[in-house]
Amino acid sequence: MFPTAPLTAVLLLIVSVAANPIVVRKTLVSLPFARRLNITGAHDLIQKDRTRARNMFNSHKNKRSGTPGSVSVTNVAVVYEASVGIGAPPTSYTLLVDTGSSNTWIGAGKPYVPTGSSVPLPDSVCVTYGSGSFCGMEVLETVTLTPTLVVHNQSIGIASTSTGFQGFDGILGLGPVDLTIGTLSPDTNTPIPTVTDNLFLQGTTPADLLSISFQPTTTASVKNGELMFGGNDTTQFTGPITTVPITTAFPASEFWGVDESIRYGASTIILASTPGIFDTGTTLILIATNGFNLYKSATGAVLDANTGLLRITPAQFSNLKSLFFIIGGTAFEFTANAQIWPRSLNTLIGGTASSIYLVVNDIGTPSGQGLDIINGFTFLERFYTIYDTTNKQVGIAKTPFTTATTN
Ligand SMILES: *[C@@H]1O[C@H](CO)[C@@H](O)[C@H](O)[C@H]1NC(C)=O
Ligand SMILES: *[C@@H]1O[C@H](CO)[C@@H](O)[C@H](O)[C@H]1NC(C)=O
Ligand SMILES: *[C@@H]1O[C@H](CO)[C@@H](O)[C@H](O)[C@H]1NC(C)=O
Repeated sequence: MFPTAPLTAVLLLIVSVAANPIVVRKTLVSLPFARRLNITGAHDLIQKDRTRARNMFNSHKNKRSGTPGSVSVTNVAVVYEASVGIGAPPTSYTLLVDTGSSNTWIGAGKPYVPTGSSVPLPDSVCVTYGSGSFCGMEVLETVTLTPTLVVHNQSIGIASTSTGFQGFDGILGLGPVDLTIGTLSPDTNTPIPTVTDNLFLQGTTPADLLSISFQPTTTASVKNGELMFGGNDTTQFTGPITTVPITTAFPASEFWGVDESIRYGASTIILASTPGIFDTGTTLILIATNGFNLYKSATGAVLDANTGLLRITPAQFSNLKSLFFIIGGTAFEFTANAQIWPRSLNTLIGGTASSIYLVVNDIGTPSGQGLDIINGFTFLERFYTIYDTTNKQVGIAKTPFTTATTN
């Protein structure tokens, strides 16, 4: 840990969100968002990702046996964040963009400023996110994503207590609506429509879906990510969109989960078809232990004690083959360059500048758990993804950055 403020500031890479113009295409409007790294020491990255993964399993075991639903999002080392207005006139809050949870709430940082648009509801709300949590009251509010992308009567949580969200005001929950079931009291069985749902229900967007694009980055001068509600942005992807139904396997079925398999090079099967999820709140790509061991032998990597990541030599890197994620019958190529952590950020994660670390890591359990792969944002930065509520499917396409060699 690094106790001094200046050092913490050095370790923080904030990708600026402010300057980017809002893209308007017909009725479709997109919300820019930024990536922020907040890694405070060696092993931080993998520990935070694994804690989140454990909570995704455990919370749903709890949920099945009747305790309030909880999902993990806290403790993330690298986050996507967006600036969102609440109230009329709006107050601006910095929210974590999270496809792995579905409650939207504020109050962790900047206090709630009630305005004339505030309608208090009789329900209290609590969500437990691993080592963090929030509890508060639910209100109907106006949520302003962009000046023309405004949600009326959005039920949001106003935290009276929260832990684990330093540096943020709350969460923009973009997961499937059923993840909200069990978070209210007394209306335990009532889902809370997400902002994506309400934009559609209020006729603001033509479809109940959300598209996300980003691109790999190694510097602060990166173009922002883009959330597009109700459609897809053809300027952000290339080639066809492969659509695939949400998996039936629990607990991946609760998230944006799909069945996928992983192959290394032409013929080495890393994992046969198994449930995985797309999660903006996970940094790395986590795979079941048996698959991880096969990947480790195939690449010749060793586990690096300082970072908790796999490490390869320059010679191994030049021989590193592509990984193929086979989703909906299409093989999405994840190149050698995509498989390595951006070298310019090595020292941020406790590594050495000259080393080469891999972003594929161990989820911590063998396959067969119903959630064996987490496609975190090191994956999502290379592909365009669409989260479609109405058709219960996920879309995925290549982007101009799929084969970028920025790392
Ligand atoms: C929001 O709810 C109020 C009542 O609380 C209602 O008058 C208004 O029409 C609703 N607006 C939308 C856009 O649903
Ligand atoms: C970074 O994370 C630490 C805890 O891990 C937290 O105390 C700090 O406020 C965070 N900073 C930002 C700007 O998110
Ligand atoms: C992408 O957008 C186009 C044009 O709006 C639409 O026809 C198509 O169905 C969309 N594809 C998906 C997978 O949502």
